[in-house]
Amino acid sequence: MENMENKVVIASRNEGKIKEIKDVLSKYGMEAVSRDEFGIPKFEVEETGETLEENSIIKAKAIFELIDEAVIADDSGLEVDALKGRPGVYSARYAGEHCSMQDNRDKMLRELKGVPSDKRGARFVSVITLILSDGERLIARGECKGRIASEERGDAGFGYDPIFIPDGFDKSFAEMSQEQKNSISHRGMALKRLEELIGERSK
Ligand code: IMP
Repeated sequence: MENMENKVVIASRNEGKIKEIKDVLSKYGMEAVSRDEFGIPKFEVEETGETLEENSIIKAKAIFELIDEAVIADDSGLEVDALKGRPGVYSARYAGEHCSMQDNRDKMLRELKGVPSDKRGARFVSVITLILSDGERLIARGECKGRIASEERGDAGFGYDPIFIPDGFDKSFAEMSQEQKNSISHRGMALKRLEELIGERSK
């Protein structure tokens, strides 16, 4: 990570994501600060894109244009096989415009009621955009395959964590330590890819 600014502002206001991004970036010697810590006034960035890539760039750009400092943004979603890839880019608003995460999880379990475990495949996808202070953009994607549990399990993490069981494990993301989740999660994978892109850039 030489040649890299070591401070970066996180475009998200989601506490779960902020914690994960900070944790992983700190391993690479980068200090990530949330937009609240940086003192950016509260405003909503409208996620008008139709793909995770588009929304990830929209979020990073909105903050970058405001502060002219390095910015990192993540857009993520859960793609469920039995729902033909839904809710995907609409994961945050799956149960309605102003719904809670509990509403989203309840709706998911309702929609998959009676679906056998071998047909409950799903994957989390994360697209991370890093805009460097000179305006250069690096975009990295990460995935984590797994399945949707038949009921909520665990109370760590956030969002869909209690109902997502990653491949190779018999526990949900919400039953894992932060470290274990980061080592296999979509965001962890996207951040690893981002590190490679940063490495290639400074060669
Ligand atoms: P957005 O990227 O902020 O639009 O959020 C996408 C949706 O996916 C939100 O409802 C998040 O809670 C959910 N989500 C994203 N990443 C994770 C995760 O690591 N665990 C659980 N839910 C997640």
